[in-house]
Amino acid sequence: MHAPIPTNNLYLAQARASTDSRHCMELYDKWAATYNAEVGDEAQNYVAPVLVAQAAMKFSLSNGAADSVILDAGCGTGLVGEALAVANAKAIDGIDLSPAMLGIARQTGVYRDLTQADMNRPIDKPDGTYDIVSCVGTFTQGHVGPDPALRELVRVTKTNGIVIATILDEIWVSGGFKAEVEKLKEEGLVNVVTDELIDYVKGHGDKAVLAILEKNPHP
Ligand SMILES: C[S@@+](CC[C@H](N)C(=O)[O-])C[C@H]1O[C@@H](n2cnc3c(N)ncnc32)[C@H](O)[C@@H]1O
Repeated sequence: MHAPIPTNNLYLAQARASTDSRHCMELYDKWAATYNAEVGDEAQNYVAPVLVAQAAMKFSLSNGAADSVILDAGCGTGLVGEALAVANAKAIDGIDLSPAMLGIARQTGVYRDLTQADMNRPIDKPDGTYDIVSCVGTFTQGHVGPDPALRELVRVTKTNGIVIATILDEIWVSGGFKAEVEKLKEEGLVNVVTDELIDYVKGHGDKAVLAILEKNPHP
């Protein structure tokens, strides 16, 4: 049995029930001003941003790429970017659906570039741009589905770079994420470094799959 999704936050519950990107965007636009206070790590033990940033920088160091160029996809208010900056990341770009969330992310001062984008559509970035692509809290109910998003994140990643994403455990299989990752692997596009379960919101028993996909040279 899975632990219930914490629904103590009305916006989160509504966002997870979104039926289209426009509705989801409107909710995050309303939520942006209070998001950090409500889901920031101190408020709800939302540990996923820090765990992903640490994994990303570990990869960066082991690759000798201290100057990694990073895309934070679904960056929200910038919790992942801030954790990456603390871990010494230098060039971080962010994309997100919600202009208000992007506005808060801009105030952190850690992003090089911030752009509005709907990840349920092709991403307007050239192939092979980033060493690391992070995506935290965005592969969840009512937000972004596996196709075309996972393939798009891999496309904008450099060869031998990584996509590091959290996918809420409840939808890893039922939402088609596991199948899409297997498809990308079968096509020779990626090597699956890990798809382990991690704490997502500590104390709520909320878990997510941490998927790390290494982009292969052209199959
Ligand atoms: C739970 S928040 C996570 C934000 C941030 N990564 C974090 O960990 O705090 C989910 C984010 O996904 C964004 N989002 C929802 N649907 C999206 C879409 N179709 N394309 C891009 N971003 C989307 C929302 O605007 C919101 O900022």
